[in-house]
Amino acid sequence: MSEKIPFLTLAKAQEIVQDVPTPFHIYDEKGIRENVRRINKAFAWNKGFKEYFAVKALPNPTILRILAEEGCGVDCSSLTELMLSDAVGFGGDQIMFSSNMTPVEDMQLAYKMGAYINLDDATMVDFLERVAGVPETVFCRYNPGGTFTLGESEEGFQVMDNPGEAKYGMTEAQMIESFRRLAQKGAKHFGIHAFLASNTISNVYYPELAGILFTLAVRVAKAANVHISCINLSGGVGIPYRPDQPENDIAAIGEGVKEQFEKILVPAGMGDVKIFSEMGRFTTGPYGALITTAIHEKHIYKEYIGVDACAANLMRPAIYGAYHHITVLGKQYAACDHKYDVVGGLCENSDKFAIDRMLPKIDIGDILYIHDTGAHGFSMGYNYNGKLRSAEVLLCADGTHQLIRRAETPHDYFATLDMTPYGKKLSED
Ligand SMILES: Cc1ncc(COP(=O)(O)O)c(C=O)c1O
Repeated sequence: MSEKIPFLTLAKAQEIVQDVPTPFHIYDEKGIRENVRRINKAFAWNKGFKEYFAVKALPNPTILRILAEEGCGVDCSSLTELMLSDAVGFGGDQIMFSSNMTPVEDMQLAYKMGAYINLDDATMVDFLERVAGVPETVFCRYNPGGTFTLGESEEGFQVMDNPGEAKYGMTEAQMIESFRRLAQKGAKHFGIHAFLASNTISNVYYPELAGILFTLAVRVAKAANVHISCINLSGGVGIPYRPDQPENDIAAIGEGVKEQFEKILVPAGMGDVKIFSEMGRFTTGPYGALITTAIHEKHIYKEYIGVDACAANLMRPAIYGAYHHITVLGKQYAACDHKYDVVGGLCENSDKFAIDRMLPKIDIGDILYIHDTGAHGFSMGYNYNGKLRSAEVLLCADGTHQLIRRAETPHDYFATLDMTPYGKKLSED
């Protein structure tokens, strides 16, 4: 079981709040660095291993710089993620470009930066050649269709996800044909990529996926007569959002992938294949938290605590019904004898960080620590109701803190509008 211990004390939170008002997301530099070291150690058996951090999970240059220092590359999916990575200093084979329905200018920038380009569809072969060019190494994304099942439980196979309903990737036949055509157009090395299940709490997801992709690679290399140089297991390794969930053991996951590698690729003479990952959630998820203050209470048919953050700052509970653990800082050892809905102020009834959650008695002014927002947290935010995106703070490894993104202001919110006809009036109000 995972222990839900905040990486921030009440005293430190109170100190930061003097500088940066709530709400804000905070990230734990030490936790992130230690975790990346565990990941790299788990896959050290593979000479070319690289974790390409999924920028969409936490697109902040300070975080990306920390990850670069720990040896990570980046996985980008859009023009601005490429630009951000470029600004941090990533280039060439430090970048995977895994996009879909890709706009021309995104593809052109990826090509110009020398990124590993991952084609989501067979029709992208001609598109790539037409708008950019065919690089020496090209990846194709695989979709096996059907449902993806994992391991055996008492009830039978556990269904993890539904690739047949997913818009991503191509069939095996399309991949073989794409590799053949890319080779005719000058590509020399090939990569295979797949993302079959999200937020898996299982040490066998990556090994099972590796087994599928390794056997696919052997077949495809033979059928298309090409050299497969890299296999990208993408993201999908999960984290325990709930205290009753077990943690994934990255060392066991690395060992499981190694077993498949030695069983399938080495005998096929493909022991030079580099293994890549694109873990976002597993890499930074637990090392982020949304810090928010209780600003209202309401007693109607239920007990509500209103906080100064809302779904615009953390969308997962509202759109997926996702659980995020909450700690009331300074009250960790108090009895959880009050049942609350913890809510934000959006005009949306889904704007609830917790429903019927047993927590200690919350007083106005209490600081709440919403766990596990280090991936797909801030980055999924939006501006509904004119709510502004929050600041981001780094809890540095030496215990100090640093503002790594200021909060949006109304000026930012209005920046894309032409206010000249009303400008004076608005700015005076
Ligand atoms: C192509 C690709 N790679 C990697 C990731 C990261 O996934 P996760 O954060 O679940 O590891 C995503 C997430 O959407 C993705 O679309």
